[in-house]
Amino acid sequence: MATDTTKRPVHEVILEKVKLQATPGDAQSVVDVMDKLGWDNHWHMSLGDAKAVFVRQAIREHKPRTLLELGTYIGYSATVIGSEMVATWKELGGGDPKPLLLSLDINETTTAVAKQIATIAGLVSPTGQSTVEFLVGDCLKIIPTLKERFPNGFDAVFIDCWKQLYLPSIKLLEEHGLLHSGSVVIGDNILNPGAPDFLAHVRNSPRYETTVHESTVEYTNDKDWVTVSKVVA
Ligand SMILES: C[S@@+](CC[C@H](N)C(=O)[O-])C[C@H]1O[C@@H](n2cnc3c(N)ncnc32)[C@H](O)[C@@H]1O
Repeated sequence: MATDTTKRPVHEVILEKVKLQATPGDAQSVVDVMDKLGWDNHWHMSLGDAKAVFVRQAIREHKPRTLLELGTYIGYSATVIGSEMVATWKELGGGDPKPLLLSLDINETTTAVAKQIATIAGLVSPTGQSTVEFLVGDCLKIIPTLKERFPNGFDAVFIDCWKQLYLPSIKLLEEHGLLHSGSVVIGDNILNPGAPDFLAHVRNSPRYETTVHESTVEYTNDKDWVTVSKVVA
């Protein structure tokens, strides 16, 4: 794991800087602090500013009210996506259902950081309904349990966990009826480190219409792709 000069884990440094430098309730200020650290000398394996453009664009276009994220890490993409979901919901006049992002990760330590970061961003409410909820566990075990709470499935899914889990995850989502016509499945790191079996699946299945966005790996100039696959059947 990347460390700063004092050898602290990067997630600790980022949380400290977000607490010191971001404006509470201002999600963009949280994202800006995290991006600056990523480009300076604290690289972190978050979505990053370059690919976030395409993820924000997909949220603006498809306006999901429910979104499942696989791979929370320290809450960068949850902050980007959650704030974009709130913005599009407000533009449509608000009302029920309020937007909800359910974010899953197997790592308890980094999820605790994510929760603090999303709270500073104004996306977690200690009293009312939160825009972002976090769940710790293995996505392959949790996905099959979600139908009861989400009988209509999710309007969108953002897949950003370890790359060998992309294909089994989308297959579980299909099998358990968690995608509906019009849902979108967004995939990160499709070129680098790459999820070729997932890409083949969403490209070859008549169920999806897939767009590949060319971009760069977080906080580097190396090539990467983000896919947006709309469920059409
Ligand atoms: C690239 S990071 C996620 C980055 C995050 N989406 C962002 O952009 O801010 C990948 C995450 O997947 C998580 N992960 C790995 N295996 C998992 C599993 N089986 N279930 C859920 N999460 C998993 C890791 O713990 C790690 O935090």
